[in-house]
Amino acid sequence: MATKNCKIMIFGATGYLGVKMVKASISMGHHTYAYVRPIKSNSADPSKIEILNNFKSLGVIVCQGDLDEHEKLVMVLKQVDIVISTLAVPQHLEQLKIISAMKEAGNITRFVPSEFGNEVDRVSGLPPFQKLLDNKKKIRRATEAAGIPFTYVSANSFAAYFVDYLLHPCQISDHATIYGSGEAKAVLNYEEDVAAYTVKAATDPRVANRVIICRPSKNIVSQLDLVSSWEKKTGRTMKRIHVPEEDLIKLSESLPFPDNVAAAILHNILIAGDQVSFDLTEKDLEVTRLYPDYNYTSVDDLLDLCLVNPPKVKLATFA
Ligand SMILES: NC(=O)c1ccc[n+]([C@@H]2O[C@H](COP(=O)([O-])OP(=O)(O)OC[C@H]3O[C@@H](n4cnc5c(N)ncnc54)[C@H](OP(=O)(O)O)[C@@H]3O)[C@@H](O)[C@H]2O)c1
Repeated sequence: MATKNCKIMIFGATGYLGVKMVKASISMGHHTYAYVRPIKSNSADPSKIEILNNFKSLGVIVCQGDLDEHEKLVMVLKQVDIVISTLAVPQHLEQLKIISAMKEAGNITRFVPSEFGNEVDRVSGLPPFQKLLDNKKKIRRATEAAGIPFTYVSANSFAAYFVDYLLHPCQISDHATIYGSGEAKAVLNYEEDVAAYTVKAATDPRVANRVIICRPSKNIVSQLDLVSSWEKKTGRTMKRIHVPEEDLIKLSESLPFPDNVAAAILHNILIAGDQVSFDLTEKDLEVTRLYPDYNYTSVDDLLDLCLVNPPKVKLATFA
């Protein structure tokens, strides 16, 4: 179903999700390009240099430039068909520059903007989170106004990231913080799978101008489900420390930016249960229905993995 040998440009390629996106694109045989900010010799980040060396060894074509360099952007975009952005949250509105360059280049057949969370046109959150959702909506509307074919990816929550946050599998933790009652369901999808589904969808004619939703049945879990499963696997009991909903709402109102955003996101996902607040219909493109042959990593598989070697995670950047 997917088109083969596409030319895919990835923005934010050196980031937490970006590296996985590059690997997914390469592993599916696409010509993969990465537009990365130049490394300044006086502030060279060794981890970024290592990532770029790794990209080169994988055959990734690395283009160095800033998002402000419009002419350069147009020139590099003319060499590719598909654009996937995994830029960090503070750079979401910077994607307007990519949209403007794609419009001028005139050849892009698909744009996947950096979202990878809740389905922004179908949910709402407390003000600090709503602002983030509104920025993603602005990028959707600007993409549509520019007439660029798109695919929007509603990835729900990153599983390794949330498992690390809630269970601390790297430490021998004897307690778990439970937000609200702990019964609300969230959807936790392994980051590698999010990247694979994104590349599949970006190259899939069935998904042009559509939203894909990552809601595999085995990944719909509550905090209490997660803690119980972890207790069974480790043979240890964890003390549940509940944070009441009112406290989290107050934190979203009183904490300084960016911590207020984190509080509002936790409220939305773990207490309001917004990721499963709407039913999927036959018209919705859910990834396990779109790609039934893809063998995804379930939350249970991920917990098994955590017992042996917990995946490395990086905290999301909001500022
Ligand atoms: N659903 C979830 O649970 C969840 C969790 C985390 C993140 N996310 C989403 O996933 C997406 C990617 O997030 P991430 O955590 O992977 O991002 P990240 O690692 O923080 O950053 C991604 C890239 O953004 C670029 N960048 C950073 N600062 C920049 C600046 N000042 N100017 C221009 N570019 C800059 C960098 O690319 P270069 O250095 O290569 O230029 C960086 O590698 C976001 O949309 C985020 O909302 C979702």
